[in-house]
Amino acid sequence: MMRLDKFLSELNLGTRSQLKKEIKAGAVTVNGSKALSPQQQIEEETDQVSYKGQACVYEKYVYYVLHKPAGVVSATEDAHDRTVMDLLGDGKRKDLFPVGRLDKDTEGLLLLTNDGQLAHNLLAPGKHVEKEYECCLASAFDEHQKALLEQGVDIGEKKLTAPAIVHRLEDKKITLTITEGRFHQVKRMLHAVGNEVTYLKRIRMGSLMLEDTLPRGNYRKLTKEEVERLQYDRSSHF
Ligand code: URA
Repeated sequence: MMRLDKFLSELNLGTRSQLKKEIKAGAVTVNGSKALSPQQQIEEETDQVSYKGQACVYEKYVYYVLHKPAGVVSATEDAHDRTVMDLLGDGKRKDLFPVGRLDKDTEGLLLLTNDGQLAHNLLAPGKHVEKEYECCLASAFDEHQKALLEQGVDIGEKKLTAPAIVHRLEDKKITLTITEGRFHQVKRMLHAVGNEVTYLKRIRMGSLMLEDTLPRGNYRKLTKEEVERLQYDRSSHF
């Protein structure tokens, strides 16, 4: 059960105060009858609500992929910096959160959802879901560094990092695929093998790739098929 004005504002149809006025003015029906009270309780998954003649379909969970630019933090709130939530604009649902974190200077794929179960599936180390990064490096990448990353490296924690998948793209550019999400993990892994990351971009999380057509700072909703694939994602390599 949920209040009618909250239900409508979660669908991004306006602010709570605008919607209250519109409900009182008769713009909303519930199961065919005009609803005149914003406090009216509705059953969000079964009641038929319409707003200005349009049926309102409630989505319990929502999923967005954002192309995070550098300079914004992946938090829901921050006292100093712009957050990834700010990039979603004003009409967004209040229960969204980023699935994991990217550093302030890291760009690329960030999922935003209100589905805690999916977030757990993608982040839990035991699920081994792959996160793939494109890394520009300060010095030339060599076979020795590759072999170390593939075995697992000491980044100053109890356990070595899990084996990574590494592809050398250019002299100073690689892709690195990992299944964990330790703090600053990619930067620390490259540091541990004697190199440094100068630019970092996440290009994939499980089955979801960051497409070239999604410009930096933009976002889109995931399709139903994309969400279903993420729900069953596991690493195929490890
Ligand atoms: N590893 C890092 O070092 N930074 C990120 O933002 C993500 C992974």
